Amino acid sequence: MKRAFVTGITGQDGSYLTEFLLSKDYEVHGIIRRASTFNTGRIDHIYVDPHEPNARLFLHYGDLSDSEQTSNILYNIKPDEVYHLAAQSHVKVSFNMPEYTGNVTGLGTVRLLESIRRSGNETKFYQASSSEMFGRTASPQNEESAFSPTSPYAVAKVYAYWMAKNYRLGYGLFACNGILFNHESPRRGEIFVTRKITMAIASIIAKKQQYLYLGNLEPKRDWGFAPEYVEVMWKILQQETADDYVVGTGEQHSVREFVDQAFSYVGLKWDQYVRTDPKYFRPTETEDLVADSRKIKKTIGWAPKIRFSELVKIMVDADLRRAGLATIGEGDEFLRKQFPNRWWKTD
Ligand code: NAP
Ligand code: GDD
Repeated sequence: MKRAFVTGITGQDGSYLTEFLLSKDYEVHGIIRRASTFNTGRIDHIYVDPHEPNARLFLHYGDLSDSEQTSNILYNIKPDEVYHLAAQSHVKVSFNMPEYTGNVTGLGTVRLLESIRRSGNETKFYQASSSEMFGRTASPQNEESAFSPTSPYAVAKVYAYWMAKNYRLGYGLFACNGILFNHESPRRGEIFVTRKITMAIASIIAKKQQYLYLGNLEPKRDWGFAPEYVEVMWKILQQETADDYVVGTGEQHSVREFVDQAFSYVGLKWDQYVRTDPKYFRPTETEDLVADSRKIKKTIGWAPKIRFSELVKIMVDADLRRAGLATIGEGDEFLRKQFPNRWWKTD
């Protein structure tokens, strides 16, 4: 049985990836942060009491700012694969907490790489790199495009990217960068723009909220569906040689288009509900992202099934359902058709 160690297991991607790895018969270990309230909501449905003989998911307290603990876990577990997904992952927050973001998102990666190197184990390493690293570089972006980061988050991710590459070149570590473009889902964190929009729509329909306050509506993103992206993470580590890959749909839309499509889907005119609040603008913005994913398509034959318009519907449907406002919508129907035997069980 293969053994994986997942950092960021409680996040959007970590939760889907863990579900995927369990479906592939892995034993999965993850770190969770000690908090005064439970932060395991996204993985509760797959958690089995570790005393049970069939338990294959094990959680350990740990934090990326503490190398001793993660190093001990790595030493004791001796994983075949490490998926390093934990990060202070919010771009706007990184402007408010640049030092913390550098410590966790940048140095946190080196702490893990160094622990693996010192352990001497044959452990493969996946680094969650980001399209945000391209910043001001003209689109479409691919593996050859220059990095031009426009936020403390992106700067920290560029540092982590090069560290992963340095450990590959310098020490022969099987370390790979997945440079993923934005990917969303009903499990997306509530303060990322897509989820903020779809949750607000449910609240507006339920008459619990009157307006949705947003920042800059002009930036363009390449939005995909998170479960499809975590499968790619796994495939990247199954290749013969370690390498770096750009992953995205190749389709670009603005924040304004996302808002428009989401409100239109429920029969509302977005401009009657959306207001601007300057506090959501960023000191510097990444305006124009869209992936040129030819390399990953050629290497593993990957092509996304869920495109922008379906993604919007899937997310709106899920938030309407959570609010008790609807049961099955067009997005749900589409998901069922595209993934009849899907390995993830809940929203
Ligand atoms: P997310 O939902 O924000 O999850 C972040 C995870 O990191 C959570 O499990 C969080 O734990 C954990 N974490 C944060 N600070 C930590 C610390 N100091 N020590 C230990 N764990 C810590 O992010 P995501 O969307 O799943 O993204 C996963 C990774 O991919 C991130 O590295 C992100 O930067 C990168 N990425 C994401 C996208 C995207 O569009 N989603 C695109 C490119 C790259 P808590 O639950 O305790 O907060
Ligand atoms: N969060 C947020 N909230 N964003 C807003 C808002 C708002 O109220 N109003 C407008 N936006 C704009 C942002 O300025 C940005 O241009 C765009 O919406 C998307 O913002 P986010 O959803 O916060 O995502 P992101 O693109 O900044 O970062 C995400 O994708 C990266 C990959 O490119 C995160 O998941 C990062 O961790 C990831 O690396």
